[in-house]
Amino acid sequence: MFDLIVKGGVLPDGRVSDIGIKADKIAAVEDLSGADAGDVIDASGDLVSPPFVDPHFHMDATLSYGLPRINASGTLLEGIGLWGELKQVMTQDEVVARALRYCDWAASMGLLAIRSHVDTCDDRLLGVEALLDVREQVKDYIDMQLVAFPQDGFYRDPTARENTIRALDMGVDVVGGIPHFERTMADGAASVKELCELAAARGLQVDMHCDETDDPMSRHIETLAFETQRLGLHGRVAGSHLTSMHSMDNYYVSKLLPLIAEAEINVIPNPLINIVLQGRHDSFPKRRGLTRIKEMLAMGINVGWGQDCVLDPWYSLGTADMLDVAFMGLHVAQMTSPDEMRTCFDMVTTHNARTMGLKDYGLQVGAKASLVVLDASNPIEALRLRAARLHVVANGRIVSQTPRGDAALDLKDRPETVRRRH
Ligand code: FE2
Repeated sequence: MFDLIVKGGVLPDGRVSDIGIKADKIAAVEDLSGADAGDVIDASGDLVSPPFVDPHFHMDATLSYGLPRINASGTLLEGIGLWGELKQVMTQDEVVARALRYCDWAASMGLLAIRSHVDTCDDRLLGVEALLDVREQVKDYIDMQLVAFPQDGFYRDPTARENTIRALDMGVDVVGGIPHFERTMADGAASVKELCELAAARGLQVDMHCDETDDPMSRHIETLAFETQRLGLHGRVAGSHLTSMHSMDNYYVSKLLPLIAEAEINVIPNPLINIVLQGRHDSFPKRRGLTRIKEMLAMGINVGWGQDCVLDPWYSLGTADMLDVAFMGLHVAQMTSPDEMRTCFDMVTTHNARTMGLKDYGLQVGAKASLVVLDASNPIEALRLRAARLHVVANGRIVSQTPRGDAALDLKDRPETVRRRH
C-alpha cells in the first residue's frame, strides 16, 4: 500500500516507470500495476523529473524591482549601489513577505531547493534574520541553504568581517565572498584565504561570487582553487559567475582548468544575469560574459546553471523557472547538440543538487519523495516548451498543480507532423 503512485511517467534517462511513494520517501520505482495507493497521479507519457535546484539566488533582494528606483545603466555596479539604497529603507517584514511570495512561485515551478546568498553588510543583519525565518517557514517544501555574503566587500566594508561571522553564528549555512569587489587584487586574494579558512574551521561549504567582471586579469578563481586544495575542501566549494574567464588568455586558461578540476570546484554560471550585466563597457564586439561551460564540462568539472536574480536591482524579469535559466544558458553557451541539450537539463537538476550537497536527491528507492511531472515527453522538449509543471510533489505531498497548455497549435507535435498538417 502506497500513499501516492505516479503512474507511467518517462524518467529523464528515458525509462518508463511507475513511482511508489510511502510517507516522504520513494519506496518503489517499477511496474506497480495492481498496487493500492491512497492517491494516483496519471503521468502516462509525461516527463517525471527530480525537482529543479537553484544553487545561486538572492532572496533578500527578490521582487523589489523599482524600489527605490530602477537601475538606469543596467550595470552590476549601479545594481550594487541601488541595493545599498534599498537596504536603508526596507523592513524585515517586507523582506519576509517578498521571499515567501517567491517561494510560492518556486514551488509552482517545481523548484524545491534553493541556495540563497544573504547580504551580511548590515549591522542589523535584517536580511539574515528575515531569511532564517523564511528558511524555517518553507522547510516542508523547499530545501533552502543560506550563504553569508559580504556584498560590499569582506575587507572593503568596515564591519563586514564581524557581521559575516555573526551571521554564521546565527545559523547561516555557507561561507560567501566577493573578492573582485575588494579594494585591491591582494585584498581579494586575502579574503578568499580567510573565508576558506573560516569554512574549514566550521566544517561549512564555500560559495563565492568570483571574478564577476570582464577584466581578464581578475583571477581569484586561481586562489579559490588553491585554498580549496590546501585546506582539503574538495567538492565543498563553489565558484559563482567566473565571467572573467570569458576574457582570459587561452594559454592561462589551459593551466587554470586542471587546477579547478583538481580542487573539485563546483561552477555556477548565471546566464540570464551574465548576459545582461557583462560587456556593458564594451563597444563592439561586445563580450557575452559567460564562463567556459563546455570546456569545463569536458574536463569533468561539475557545472550547473544558477538563476541569481528575479525582479531586483540587477534584473528586471524572471519567474523562478529554472527551464528559462537553462534555455538561456543553452543558447549563450551554444549547447545545441542533443547530448548538450540534455546536459543543460541535468545542469538545473542533478548537477546543482551535487553543488548544494543535497542528500537523498533523485528518483531512486530511498530518495526523498520530491518530483515534478512536466507537460513534455523528454528533457529536450521540456526545455523547448518551458513545459508546464503539471504536478509538483514535495516530501510526498502534492504542493502545486498546473493545467496542460491549451495552445491553438499543439506545440508538442514533431516537425514532420506539423508539416503534414499544413
Ligand atoms: Fe549573485
